[in-house]
Amino acid sequence: MRLNAGGLSKLVIGREDEITTLQSYIKFSQHTVITAPRRYGKTTLATKVLDGMSKDYLIVKVDVFEATNIEELCHNYLNAIYKSIGIVDFAKTVKESVFSLLEKFSLSYEQDGIKLGYEISKEKNLDELVKKTFNFSEKFAKLFNKKMIVFFDEFGDIEKFGEDFLKKLRSYMQTHENVVYIFAGSQTSVINSIFLNHKNAFFNFASLMNIGFLEEKSTMKFLKNLKIEQKELNDEVIAKLLSITKCHPFYLIKTIQETYISSLISNTKEIRVEDVDNAIQKILSDNNAYFENIWHKLNAKKYKGTIFKSICNNKKLSININPSYKSQLNKELKMESLISENLNATDPFLCIWLKGAQND
Ligand SMILES: Nc1ncnc2c1ncn2[C@@H]1O[C@H](COP(=O)(O)OP(=O)(O)OP(=O)(O)O)[C@@H](O)[C@H]1O
Ligand SMILES: [Mg+2]
Repeated sequence: MRLNAGGLSKLVIGREDEITTLQSYIKFSQHTVITAPRRYGKTTLATKVLDGMSKDYLIVKVDVFEATNIEELCHNYLNAIYKSIGIVDFAKTVKESVFSLLEKFSLSYEQDGIKLGYEISKEKNLDELVKKTFNFSEKFAKLFNKKMIVFFDEFGDIEKFGEDFLKKLRSYMQTHENVVYIFAGSQTSVINSIFLNHKNAFFNFASLMNIGFLEEKSTMKFLKNLKIEQKELNDEVIAKLLSITKCHPFYLIKTIQETYISSLISNTKEIRVEDVDNAIQKILSDNNAYFENIWHKLNAKKYKGTIFKSICNNKKLSININPSYKSQLNKELKMESLISENLNATDPFLCIWLKGAQND
């Protein structure tokens, strides 16, 4: 069965409300930005919704993180636009032979679409390349007489290309009537500054969708019905999985995987609570360097680690800290996506790790 953690997930537990919301925004032609800390399921959610709308829309997916420079981003964007009509690696194919590609498409608007893209792929001037590529979505949608959804994943990464570039993108995108833009990003500080800062280019451009952990009810239902190679999860195991992972999508799937593997290794008929304990230890140990790094950074600032730990443990601070300094530290923790708007820790396993004695 497919139960992978971290890669593209076909399995979508819950998220009914978020799916309805995103579908409605798209139908209203409302540009949207999905935000959440890492591994909360932004890509999974967007993919689920977009794949379900592929009959009525041209679907274009671009991962901003993959591009190391603006030219590469344009190249990837152009390819993604053609992928929406089934042409794989357009830029390469068209360079090898534009004629053989044209031969495959008989309708005149299809041929026009290919010729236009060919022109863009040959553009040498970077500003022109950006302008042509980022306006091509609208042209293409018109040409094919179909609305388009463009999904920019890891959009926070766009800041590496500078403020001027962002301004240009906004100026092109805001004229498009046949394209709905969906953005996703995990770096709260960057996403907030792009979309929520009134001084910034994309202020008020997109509706915000902040997604949280999975709903407990849907997760419980999923766990109750789950069977891996004939093995089911008993109530005790389910309760432990829910309390440990807090329905964090990535950790939930990862813990289930490792729990099952532990039951195989210990050669028991049933999946036991001890297997969940083994899974937790395995995940903590796999992430040790990552957690250590976060903890180290937190402690570079006085009291920051202490405040974060008290949030993790749901305990009041035992020391007195100047209130304005404390609220400044909370703000930083939010910006770093370590805590949510309502001051809850975003990574349940980091909290478990912090309870370990070695990092006091
Ligand atoms: N609704 C869901 N149901 C089941 N599993 C999910 C769901 N959402 C996410 N996952 C699990 O969590 C993993 C991470 O999800 P995804 O890659 O979508 O998160 P992300 O927020 O896009 O992360 P990143 O910030 O790293 O891009 C997936 O590989 C999958 O295992
Ligand atoms: Mg993602």
